[in-house]
Amino acid sequence: MSHQSEECKRLENNIVQIADLHQLNDFEVDSSSVYLFHFPMGRTDFEASRSQEAYQLIYNFCLRLHKDATVSILTTPPEAARLLPILEKCLEFKLWVAVKTTPHTYVNQKGKLPERHAALLILTRYSGTLRHTKTRVKYTYCPSCKKTTKDYGGKKHTYHEYGTLISDVWRDIECNPCEDIEPISDLLQDLFGLEPYKLLQILDLRTCKDLLPVTELPPRPNETSLIKEQPTLFQMSQTLLSPHLANANEPKLESRLLNMDCLEGLRSLPTESVDFCFADPPYNLQKKYSHWNDSMETIEYFAWCDQWLSELARILKPGKTLAVMNIPLWSVRYYQHLCSRLNFQAWIVWDAISFPVRQIMPSHYPILCFSKGEARALPGLQPKNSTEAEYLAPLGEFYCLRESCLSQRQRLKASDRGELSDLWYDIHRLKHNSYRVDHPCQLPPMLMRRLFTLFTLPGEVILDCFNGAGTSTLVAQEMGRGFIGIELSLQYHTIAQQRHEELQQGKNPFGKREVVPDAKNSRVERLPKQHYMVSKKILQLDVKRIAQEIGRLPTREEVKTLSKYPIEYFDNYFIGWGEVCAAARTTGMSDLPVDQADIQLKFQM
Ligand SMILES: C[S@@+](CC[C@H](N)C(=O)[O-])C[C@H]1O[C@@H](n2cnc3c(N)ncnc32)[C@H](O)[C@@H]1O
Repeated sequence: MSHQSEECKRLENNIVQIADLHQLNDFEVDSSSVYLFHFPMGRTDFEASRSQEAYQLIYNFCLRLHKDATVSILTTPPEAARLLPILEKCLEFKLWVAVKTTPHTYVNQKGKLPERHAALLILTRYSGTLRHTKTRVKYTYCPSCKKTTKDYGGKKHTYHEYGTLISDVWRDIECNPCEDIEPISDLLQDLFGLEPYKLLQILDLRTCKDLLPVTELPPRPNETSLIKEQPTLFQMSQTLLSPHLANANEPKLESRLLNMDCLEGLRSLPTESVDFCFADPPYNLQKKYSHWNDSMETIEYFAWCDQWLSELARILKPGKTLAVMNIPLWSVRYYQHLCSRLNFQAWIVWDAISFPVRQIMPSHYPILCFSKGEARALPGLQPKNSTEAEYLAPLGEFYCLRESCLSQRQRLKASDRGELSDLWYDIHRLKHNSYRVDHPCQLPPMLMRRLFTLFTLPGEVILDCFNGAGTSTLVAQEMGRGFIGIELSLQYHTIAQQRHEELQQGKNPFGKREVVPDAKNSRVERLPKQHYMVSKKILQLDVKRIAQEIGRLPTREEVKTLSKYPIEYFDNYFIGWGEVCAAARTTGMSDLPVDQADIQLKFQM
């Protein structure tokens, strides 16, 4: 990955082979090192579950570290999920970075999703925000039109000429951590190239005797240990389902939307009755829902999550999948609960690509997949028709989504598709209001289409116990699957019902809408719709001119005196002073590679 770190004093690096974790007891620690534990790759959940002693030795080492220390751990996602809760007793979690690996890092297993990422945990001995250099990753360019992969539209003047701020998905580098982690260490040497650090200590555990592959087989899951409660409100029907595709002899749950609490709804369903469970719960991050307190105490929140996770595990059929989405740290907590009930199946990283608001942008959501007992071979790996095949064919990396480029590629029948893996980067959040209804955090339908194609067959029953505006149930119906959607809020439940009616009438419930929704997916207030006398870009560039004249960002009073435009425009058109100064704080960029941008500028002169 080409990157640029501001005011960076690059760290030296030093590799130490750790053959026995007891060596760590004598390892001298100091205040100027950043540590990177390099685990053997391919470690399974079962191996991780057998490594408590090894983790304890690493914990003892971390306990001795200086109060300013930063520790990173490079390993497989299941191992990171098992190790983190132990290290969290002496270190503070800062980031889970998903690092792209080469296709040959993990052995592809028949019937499973190819694995293409490793976990890089970043933890510190200190509290508060992570200290690191401001690091940017060079823009990537579309292999077809040669413009930047992301279309920055009319906002190019507010971006930096070099690239975007680094996020928590490192896809621009690719390495095989079994062999060489140079691209990762290279980046860490600059990312942490600031006081008091001087050295990146790489503790290479690849041949460590305490982490050797386990040869014994994992015990067969004891499915009878799962609680089997009796149904209360159970209804059965054969309607809406295609009996020839699912097992025709099995009783089927009737497709329906339930307006009730998820626990009440789940408890009403029989054990082992659902083919795919999905959950996109409230994240307890103070979202403004109509009927839900999204800021419970953490302990209370997880006690509640454990209850519905257990219910989902109960109603899931053997061999089938439960997929749950959340932020990385909360997903680790879910992992702890689920791994005692179900089998770990896949750790999908959805790189949802957001705006650079902080120094390292958190931009991904894990989708944790567990199966009841041994997972069946993924049905989607042999798609049933061309539409479903399309859902599983991601856009090749770095291709752009500009209309002109897309149609050109279509005309030329250019092959712009990549290979499906557990790293999903081509599905964007629903940003545009015209595609949203009145719900603050709708998922994009394409995410559900891919999940349902991959994990289910036509006719099978999908359940979403936080159905919101109905994304899951609508997609399920669209794809000929049965569905059960549970939603607490009457308002969202009604929206979902109306959209199902639209679907029934042959309309597209995901199409463009005229009405601007009230609900927002960001905490920033929405400004009233208005007619701009002068474009925001012109105003921001005028502020940039003033900043250059006075040698710093101007205050409101200075803009009032020095701008060509009335101060009311700045007050009314922008959300805050940060946005007014957005262009003044950076260099501006072009969507062509730097040398081509120069040529184009010369032609324009
Ligand atoms: C993250 S949103 C899900 C959005 C949904 N995936 C969509 O695309 O529309 C979480 C939803 O869970 C609902 N919810 C919160 N607590 C609930 C509960 N106890 N039972 C059922 N639904 C609940 C909220 O009202 C909200 O609509």
